[in-house]
Amino acid sequence: MFRRFLCLLLCFSLVFGASAVCAAAGEVSRVSCCVFGSDGRGFSWFTAENGGSDVQLLKSDEFDGSFASAAVFSGKATRYRGRFSHHVSVTGLEPGTSYTYRVGDRAAGLWSAPRTFLTDDGDGTAAFLVLADVQAGSPENFAHAAKTMAAGLQTLPQAEFWVNLGDYVNDNTNDEWDWYFESFAFANDRLTHVPVAGNHDGNITNKLNTFCFPSMFCLDTSANRSLEGVYYSFDWGELHFTVLNTNDMYPMSQAQRNWFVNDVTNSGARWKVVLMHRALYSAGKNINKPDTVALRGDLLPLFDKLDVDLVLSGHDHMYLRTAPLRGDRKTDVTRTEDTFRGETVTFFKDAPGTVFALPSTAGTKRYTVNENAMPPILSVAETAFSTRDKGGCFAAIETEGDKLVYKAYCVDDETQAVTEVDRFGLMKTAVSEGTPAKRDASLFSSFIAYPANLLVALAKLLVSYGRLLAHML
Ligand SMILES: [Fe+2]
Repeated sequence: MFRRFLCLLLCFSLVFGASAVCAAAGEVSRVSCCVFGSDGRGFSWFTAENGGSDVQLLKSDEFDGSFASAAVFSGKATRYRGRFSHHVSVTGLEPGTSYTYRVGDRAAGLWSAPRTFLTDDGDGTAAFLVLADVQAGSPENFAHAAKTMAAGLQTLPQAEFWVNLGDYVNDNTNDEWDWYFESFAFANDRLTHVPVAGNHDGNITNKLNTFCFPSMFCLDTSANRSLEGVYYSFDWGELHFTVLNTNDMYPMSQAQRNWFVNDVTNSGARWKVVLMHRALYSAGKNINKPDTVALRGDLLPLFDKLDVDLVLSGHDHMYLRTAPLRGDRKTDVTRTEDTFRGETVTFFKDAPGTVFALPSTAGTKRYTVNENAMPPILSVAETAFSTRDKGGCFAAIETEGDKLVYKAYCVDDETQAVTEVDRFGLMKTAVSEGTPAKRDASLFSSFIAYPANLLVALAKLLVSYGRLLAHML
């Protein structure tokens, strides 16, 4: 009798135990839905065991709790740091549509919970949130940074997507990525994500960390990914976004430079926006470092040449926003007051030049203002301050017609009260069709506008000469 009971117990544990193991093996984590070109999405997630990489997708107004009528898209899994990274991309999505999807393994019948995202509504408007440098190292600090994002969603509930300007994590461990995705799931489960690679998000000094960023997110970067990051672009409304990889810029690779120039030159969008991790105008502890000097030398003349309107960056954990700049100087620009959705905004009207904004950090690691930031940074800043006593920071950006409105906010650490800390608008009444106006971007004019370029060029020349000598000897 006892033997029969033991046998029954064994069978019970085998059947239900195996089922539990199966569920655990199929459990998905780190789910994200990223932009993939201008009409697609890249889905990514991780599992402990290998298996299928499938996405079921249907329009939200056709979703009644069942995925029976959903289209199925498949991709592939890659082993990465002890787990499996699944990537599936879908293109040709309809504009102005809410989609519901789930990720998993069709053959095994294992699926995640349903999630949603919106596509661009096609009427030329856009609304999105921007956060920088979560860069946490503990579950508590990730949860604290997530409160900044939650406040952003309360402030701009119509947000269609959100940008993370890089440094998602601090030490790039599996635990940190798990904490990040768990803390921000409430946002990623309903919004399309736009990731930007930060210097803490994987580096080549540890071979285990290479291709970390491209493993975390499914992006349209097949030709562009490098060991430490990715660069890509997409359109939303009348905005063209170019996402640069500033981990590939010491000096900037010729491949990325050529891609960037072609990408922006071929866009006829009203607004040209660049998203990149390292800030070229900041007054934190990193601004005077050689990597930033080299970046400024490479990129500022290109921003001038390409008529970039707005550059959003992170990395230096303080708040700074410039006037429209060209050649490292404020341009002669008309300021005009107008209303945008019932609020008064001061607009730079048909401004020549580029505005640079650094919306501090969403996290808790905050820097003081570096009064020794290289000139002319503090003199061309419209505002520059530390957010140490102000809380986590985010920016909310909306465009409609000929207006782009940028607002920045801080979220009190204790009360989560949201305070507006900056506001400006860009107004562009005329849009150049296709290729931007050609500007004098000759080597000589670049040296006049940016004297640091001459030093960078001389340094590169010395390195090349040294290599040649070493080769000859
Ligand atoms: Fe950074």
